[in-house]
Amino acid sequence: MSYTIAVAGKGGTGKTTIASLIIAQLLSEKNGSILAVDADPNSTLNEALGVKLEYTLGDVREEMLKHKYDLPGGMDKHRYMQYRLQMSLVEEKGFDLLAMGRTEGPACYCYVNNLLRGIMDEFSSNYKFIVMDNEAGMEHLSRRTTRNVDLLLVVSDESVMGVRTAGRIYQMTKGLDLNLGDSYLVINRAHESLPEPVVAEVEETEVKLLGTVPADENIVEYELAGKSLLSLPDDSPARVAVQELLNIAREKSG
Ligand SMILES: Nc1ncnc2c1ncn2[C@@H]1O[C@H](COP(=O)(O)OP(=O)(O)OP(=O)(O)O)[C@@H](O)[C@H]1O
Ligand SMILES: [Mg+2]
Repeated sequence: MSYTIAVAGKGGTGKTTIASLIIAQLLSEKNGSILAVDADPNSTLNEALGVKLEYTLGDVREEMLKHKYDLPGGMDKHRYMQYRLQMSLVEEKGFDLLAMGRTEGPACYCYVNNLLRGIMDEFSSNYKFIVMDNEAGMEHLSRRTTRNVDLLLVVSDESVMGVRTAGRIYQMTKGLDLNLGDSYLVINRAHESLPEPVVAEVEETEVKLLGTVPADENIVEYELAGKSLLSLPDDSPARVAVQELLNIAREKSG
């Protein structure tokens, strides 16, 4: 069984950054295969990880619809999609990456979507860890057949409104047809001690605070230089913070 970590949160709060730092941490632990899933239609996880992306699953689906009746060499649809999914997989040292691309579609996409979902589930179960970078919420996942999320991190900025929004995203996610394990709030680009109104809002919010991640100059620098967050020094403040968050989450889940 895979262990799935999903990162959600309002736009620009740091989901992709935190997902990348989780991947960096899992890579350094060398404890099993990792699948990075970019579930944001506007794929950027690959850039943060310094990986070139050519195809998304959205492209596979489009192509499948186009070639519905003329698949190569009598291949059946299931086999053909499996083959195309393999082709969209980016294989890197220590992890693989798959981007979902656009997942929205009219009703006539249903058949292809279902087929793709089935194949995705089958395929992703081969990995020990799945780290998923999402759009704000995870509504797009609810249309999947089966989906376990063992650890959900809802990222917020260090503001009252931010924390409130994270609480709403959590509520929405809880209402989806997901098999949701532990869920936590993470405040990104946070000061060492949170402003009092933010602390008060956190106490009001249903999703429990796991911890905070500080603003990290190295991340700014790496982004400007187009460098992979996977090569961020191990002792970079945000990198260390994410390592600690993962450790706390694991301790809490026993
Ligand atoms: N802890 C941090 N320290 C410094 N810069 C950060 C930190 N976290 C995120 N950033 C920067 O903030 C910006 C937004 O972060 P990121 O892209 O991870 O957010 P996001 O939630 O994935 O955004 P989107 O909703 O657009 O996908 C990026 O430029 C990123 O480099
Ligand atoms: Mg992002």
